[in-house]
Amino acid sequence: MAKVTDVRALTGEALAGALDDVASLRIEVFRTWPYLYDGDLEYERKYLQSYRDSDKAIVVGAFDGDRLVGASTGAPLTDHADDFAAAFDGTGLDLSQIFYCAESVLLSEYRGQGVGHKFFDQREAHARSLGFTKCAFCGVQRPADHPMRPANYRPLDAFWRARGYEPLPGAIAQFSWKDFGDEGETPKPLQFWIRDL
Ligand SMILES: CC(C)(COP(=O)(O)OP(=O)(O)OC[C@H]1O[C@@H](n2cnc3c(N)ncnc32)[C@H](O)[C@@H]1OP(=O)(O)O)[C@@H](O)C(=O)NCCC(=O)NCCS
Repeated sequence: MAKVTDVRALTGEALAGALDDVASLRIEVFRTWPYLYDGDLEYERKYLQSYRDSDKAIVVGAFDGDRLVGASTGAPLTDHADDFAAAFDGTGLDLSQIFYCAESVLLSEYRGQGVGHKFFDQREAHARSLGFTKCAFCGVQRPADHPMRPANYRPLDAFWRARGYEPLPGAIAQFSWKDFGDEGETPKPLQFWIRDL
């Protein structure tokens, strides 16, 4: 089995130097179900720039030797307010208390050795150290009868619940991207999950 030799937070020059590799990982991993994302490197570069510019954001890298084989990111939810604030309307939550765990992507041959847990451990510890009291993320909702759904797909819901997260009722964001095979972008619903830290 391909082995991950280190999982560590990237900062400063190490972070800046890894962003193109993170972009490639996002494009490769999110091509597959349930994301089906027809990725664009220019968009990815712009999106990831925010992680370089924010001192409260974190990028955790998984390495096989020198090679980046997985990555996970997080930032204060208010850094993404334009995209996500509306989803929290009516929840009564104070957004400034919420740390947002964005993507986790790991090449498939490196899965099942605990890296997903380490991605959460390191981001939650970072959020706690900054004084945040809640951690949240969101996952795309696809119709159960979607034609691209692989018969053997195992959803991550059980993993997320075991990590202490629960869906936040009514907190659904809309985010648009281009699915493989589509002509243009379409909006997708993303359900927020949340836990106390
Ligand atoms: C999310 C991801 C990074 C987790 O990596 P991982 O190597 O599977 O993580 P771990 O080995 O720590 O396993 C985490 C849990 O996932 C579950 N799991 C393990 N293998 C699995 C599989 N093949 N399919 C589904 N779930 C699996 C298990 O419940 C495991 O927890 P447990 O060992 O305590 O029971 C990885 O699966 C991935 O890149 N997925 C594609 C992208 C994605 O969906 N990201 C999440 C939303 S951004």
